[in-house]
Amino acid sequence: MYNFQYHNPTRIIFGDGEIKSIEALIPANSKVLMVYGGGSIHKNGVYSEVKKALDAFQVLEFSGVEPNPKYETCMKAVELVQKESVDFLLAVGGGSVLDATKFIALAAKFQGVDPWDFMVGKAEVPQEAVPLASIMTLPATGSEMNASFVISRESTQEKFGGYSELIRPVFSVIDPKTTVSLPERQTANGVVDTFVHTMEQYATFPNNAPLQDRQAEAILLTLVEEGPKVLKNPEDYNVRANLCWCATQALNGIISSGMPQDWSSHEIGHELTALYGIDHARTLAVVLPGVWSYFIQEKQEKLAQYARRVWRVEGDTEVCAKAAIQKTEEFFESLGVGTRLKDYGVSAKEAASAVQLRFQQRNRSGLGERGLITPEIVAQIIESRA
Ligand code: NZQ
Ligand code: ZN
Repeated sequence: MYNFQYHNPTRIIFGDGEIKSIEALIPANSKVLMVYGGGSIHKNGVYSEVKKALDAFQVLEFSGVEPNPKYETCMKAVELVQKESVDFLLAVGGGSVLDATKFIALAAKFQGVDPWDFMVGKAEVPQEAVPLASIMTLPATGSEMNASFVISRESTQEKFGGYSELIRPVFSVIDPKTTVSLPERQTANGVVDTFVHTMEQYATFPNNAPLQDRQAEAILLTLVEEGPKVLKNPEDYNVRANLCWCATQALNGIISSGMPQDWSSHEIGHELTALYGIDHARTLAVVLPGVWSYFIQEKQEKLAQYARRVWRVEGDTEVCAKAAIQKTEEFFESLGVGTRLKDYGVSAKEAASAVQLRFQQRNRSGLGERGLITPEIVAQIIESRA
């Protein structure tokens, strides 16, 4: 196991009816900016619950954050935060709303000319941020308890991740009841995104860390059991609760502590979202089996362990590693999530050369837990997913 530090200051308030708790958690006399998306919170009643809980505060609103939040939209909120001297940001929605809020929190304190510069490594990430918290209505990204955010720039069709310890939410409310209104597509996306987050930190090579392995396998097993249930009984509170907690646990740093990590499926997937608008989770369902197939030798021990422990497959390591790929594809497909580019009307050949070119232009190489993935290999992986 590698050396590591683990510090996670986000308070989680979990359960039915807990939105009201925020009143006691936001510093008194704060001027609060409530950030939200395209209106789902108006339809499911979350908006009025939040407004009631914020009764004692001065509240401003910023709505219209889109899925795969845009830099261009975020910058409008940055202007508002600066003009109004907002001192607390409250994200109410899914991962996109929270990621946008994290970016806004940093960009509002940026001293340079263009905050996009800190997304692309041309400037330092600000050393100060507006404090923020979240009410998470979509179990998927784990953003509610981590220090990451992903922002897209419309004008250049780019999508990049950022990281700062300063934008970990002070608290996150996870009320599983708020997730009952999710459309089936988003519910299934959430299961797949959580699954792949777990895999990016698990399906690498053995690292003498049986606890982390079993923690990851616990999340995978739970998703395999609860995923089909949520599609059958979307209103089942306990199923929703289990999916919410899986999503948070999959990406709050616990299972990656001391472990090698891959993340190539995410990096390649972001390009497919940026270029073709495919939902984040769906890009992962396409790319992950391709990465595994290409690196089946390098990953075979962990893939075989996963097949044996999660899917109860029997046989030698090679047989089990192959079965791991097949079982995973079947699982995604069973949730209605296509695993091939043709499912999204995208030509694999065209996508392969477009993404390869982008990685070459950025001099981006060495992806994956062993740093073996070059732009040429990225192209081969994408082409194999026709
Ligand atoms: O905008 P509204 O109207 O709220 O509708 C949203 C949106 O249309 C809707 N929705 C959310 N909660 C709902 C609901 N509809 C009904 N009932 C509810 N309770 O769902 C749609 C999708 O929302 P979005 O926030 O885009 O989805 P998700 O949470 O999957 O977030 C995806 C974004 O997160 C990034 C992705 O790249 C993508 O940009 N990620 C962030 C990560 C992180 N911060 O650590 C890691 C992930 O790997 C991921 O990259
Ligand atoms: Zn993801």
